[in-house]
Amino acid sequence: MKKKIQFPLMRNNILREDLDKIIRYLKGNDPILTNGKKVREFEDKWSKWLGIKYSVFVNSGSSANLLSMAILKTKFPEGGEVIVPPLTWVSDISSVIQNGFKPIFIDINPKTLAIDSKKTISKINKKTRCIFLTHVQGFNGLTDELLNEAKKKKIPIIEDVCESHGAKHKNKKLGSLGWISNFSFYYAHHMTTIEGGMFCTNDKIAYQKARLLRSHGMVRESDDKKFKNQYIKKYPNLNPDFIFAFPAYNLRNTEIAAIMGISQLKRLDKNIYKRTQNLKYFLKKIDPEIYYTDFDLRGSSNYAFNLILKKPNKVFVKKLIYKMKKNGIEFRRGSAGGGNQIRQPYLEKIVSKKLHKNFPNVEHIHYYGFYIGNFPDIKKKEIDKICSILNSVN
Ligand SMILES: Cc1ncc(COP(=O)(O)O)c(C=O)c1O
Repeated sequence: MKKKIQFPLMRNNILREDLDKIIRYLKGNDPILTNGKKVREFEDKWSKWLGIKYSVFVNSGSSANLLSMAILKTKFPEGGEVIVPPLTWVSDISSVIQNGFKPIFIDINPKTLAIDSKKTISKINKKTRCIFLTHVQGFNGLTDELLNEAKKKKIPIIEDVCESHGAKHKNKKLGSLGWISNFSFYYAHHMTTIEGGMFCTNDKIAYQKARLLRSHGMVRESDDKKFKNQYIKKYPNLNPDFIFAFPAYNLRNTEIAAIMGISQLKRLDKNIYKRTQNLKYFLKKIDPEIYYTDFDLRGSSNYAFNLILKKPNKVFVKKLIYKMKKNGIEFRRGSAGGGNQIRQPYLEKIVSKKLHKNFPNVEHIHYYGFYIGNFPDIKKKEIDKICSILNSVN
């Protein structure tokens, strides 16, 4: 049974006005299209919006994850442990492994879908190099307890905010509280640059390293003379234009994407407000006897509506999937990243066989969790219709 999608995950995230700005630029005299002034302008505007000092525009959120772990590796070439959630995107764990760190998994708090603070703190030890936390689906995964304990123990927090642009902890935007933060601008996110991501930090050295690592590890990419000169002085036999400080990548984005980013950023706050209002309306309309509604909404900036069964029920799940397909409700099963990452084949040889069973809250989401579209353009009437379909499953 294949029914036309009536209620998609996302609609109209790229508007005529975004495209017109790109076309106007392209019509200019000999426009530069590779990473240049527009990228820098977008980075500066993004830093201002987020309330941090430095941003590095890259070609995806996964690339921002990779940059973050590559920088951690420059500090800890010997490796160590990185605390990660099992409910996240694949690149939050693959970047850890690719850089020689061991992922240590922590179960989630069902109210925020992020790693549980108490359990996280209990896993910190001498080998812990950082906490790589994901703010899942727009919920705030930070707590004062975690921030204070990490600070006390000198363990940096890296925030993955790829699904949670504009969400806050108290009055500060997520992505401005940790050592480093990552954003994605893939199509269905709070804003888009077609493909794209941002690496953000207040740390001057991490920023310079990120600039290099984004571009083949080339020292000339640094915008700090002192930082650059260290290398130039140390390697007099190398051409200063071609000093490769790290075995790195090409993660750059383009002027076209930056123009789209600058245009989209103007609508971001308004769209976040609409997403938040929609979420509240979804929660008002959905049946709390069937679906989980007890989320911690403080500071949240909803990405998609999370439809999680209150109790395990395999028969109900089958009926729910049938109903969603029949009525053209687009959905993803398992919430962020498709559920429990520990079950994925890429981890088969890295973690023990039954490890996934130690995380009951993520396991519940894996089997009984879904998300459906919540986006600025969705109408109240559509939410009414969707909820009445979902509530009628029995
Ligand atoms: C939490 C999280 N991290 C990282 C990413 C990767 O972002 P991208 O798709 O831009 O590579 C995603 C993707 O949606 C994500 O949800």
